[in-house]
Amino acid sequence: MKEDIRYLTFALGKGRLAEKTLEMLESIGITCEEMKDKSSRKLIFVNEALRLKFFLSKNPDVPTYVEYGAADIGVVGSDVLREENRRVYEVLDLGFGKCRMCVCGPREAAELLQHHQMIRVASKYPGIAKDYFYNKKHQTVDIIKLNGSVELGPIVKLSDVIVDIVETGSTLRENGLCVLEEICPVSARMIVNRVSMQMEAERIKRIIGMLREVC
Ligand code: PRP
Repeated sequence: MKEDIRYLTFALGKGRLAEKTLEMLESIGITCEEMKDKSSRKLIFVNEALRLKFFLSKNPDVPTYVEYGAADIGVVGSDVLREENRRVYEVLDLGFGKCRMCVCGPREAAELLQHHQMIRVASKYPGIAKDYFYNKKHQTVDIIKLNGSVELGPIVKLSDVIVDIVETGSTLRENGLCVLEEICPVSARMIVNRVSMQMEAERIKRIIGMLREVC
């Protein structure tokens, strides 16, 4: 009986990633009509026939839901995954949401990255910034956590440089900033709860297999 099959729950990061993920899931026959109603304030959506549930959350919360098993599967950027450092399985690079994690700033700031000087770094990603400067560059820096519009940092002299994602580069250009160093490439990843991967291995592996064909 269908009621005996437990729901598999997906946590998707709100915004562009969720839209792309739903398109990709639709291409393998996993649909959720309920989710397309933009006027809806519902937070959780169900596909009864496939015994699937979907919910949208803030991007940094996706790995948290998956680690604790509140969601079996999540889709989130590798930037967030690296920053949050949660105990989840990363099973697939979905190949969209591509951008680069970079150190950026005014061109003159390039000099400050050469001599192990103490500088200020603003970022939405303090963990990634710390790892890069402390462990890779061996440069002691003061990291300032911001929650968005990070490019303001060097402009208003809050910081010397920023660590942020760069996609088209237009935000940097329009604000007189540039990429100074590249830290790592970023793309959307599918993650799975560690217990779900054992308990629901067959269903989850089937989804991974189908997605691998289309990404
Ligand atoms: C991201 C990122 C940059 C911008 C990069 O910000 O933090 O600001 O996009 O994209 P680009 O290279 O194509 O210009 P987001 O739009 O997520 O907003 P936020 O800064 O408020 O987090």
